[in-house]
Amino acid sequence: METIVKEKSEFRNYEQGDITAAVKDHYYKMRTRQTYDYVQRMKKKYLTFERPMDLWDMMDRLNALIDVSDPDLNLPNIIHLLQSAEGIRQDGRPDWMQLVGLIHDLGKAMYLFGSDEDGTSQAEQWGLVGDVFVVGCKLPDTCVYPEFNQENPDMLVDRFNSELGIYNPGCGLDNLELAWGHDEYLYQVLKNHPTNTIPEAGMAMIRFHSFYPWHTGGSYQALLNEKDAQYLEWIKDFNQYDLYTKSPVVPNFEELKSYYMPIAEKYLGKGPIYW
Ligand SMILES: [Fe+2]
Ligand SMILES: [Fe+2]
Repeated sequence: METIVKEKSEFRNYEQGDITAAVKDHYYKMRTRQTYDYVQRMKKKYLTFERPMDLWDMMDRLNALIDVSDPDLNLPNIIHLLQSAEGIRQDGRPDWMQLVGLIHDLGKAMYLFGSDEDGTSQAEQWGLVGDVFVVGCKLPDTCVYPEFNQENPDMLVDRFNSELGIYNPGCGLDNLELAWGHDEYLYQVLKNHPTNTIPEAGMAMIRFHSFYPWHTGGSYQALLNEKDAQYLEWIKDFNQYDLYTKSPVVPNFEELKSYYMPIAEKYLGKGPIYW
């Protein structure tokens, strides 16, 4: 297969030809339907941890999903996970970080028990994928397609539409409610997993990697605390592998499994994970 090598400036281009319409439609729905109340409902609905499933089965099942929000990739998600992990491994980074690369998007498997109505299905992904933002305060201009911000119903609600919104100044990332999606879902699933020993840095990489208006846009300064500077370093470090390892060269899952299996067992144990 021919490899197309992209320049860094060519990634995350949201105004290019035929993919634009689908991506734009996705972000329109996400921005206008993800409200504070919606996020609370989704947390209640999906964070039940009642479905035991093996990590590798989950990876297999993610294979059927194609992320509509990603202008850089139209391959099954499992390929992106393997490419991220392999990029981290090739740079000689720690084994736990390689594991994080391998699983960071596994929360997208939420689509297996999702619905069109919630935006958590193959057809409707606005509650599953895409850059997230804080709900409960004003939407920043650093969101992709900022022109959609004013159409979010929360922006008409006084307690939600100021810079701080419902939050205390400097409350920190851990205390913010983000738009619902695969980051928070996987973070909560792993947090609930009794044998999880992934270091704090890895858990932060999982939880905040889609939070572009903060980690790349530099927004929400009034809400951040000292700890968040450390988070930012971790996420920036991880982000290069999430973004720039995307290429049409397809790694072999079965071959790589024997390398990653012992690492997964080291940090997550051998039993099933409860989704
Ligand atoms: Fe992701
Ligand atoms: Fe990713």
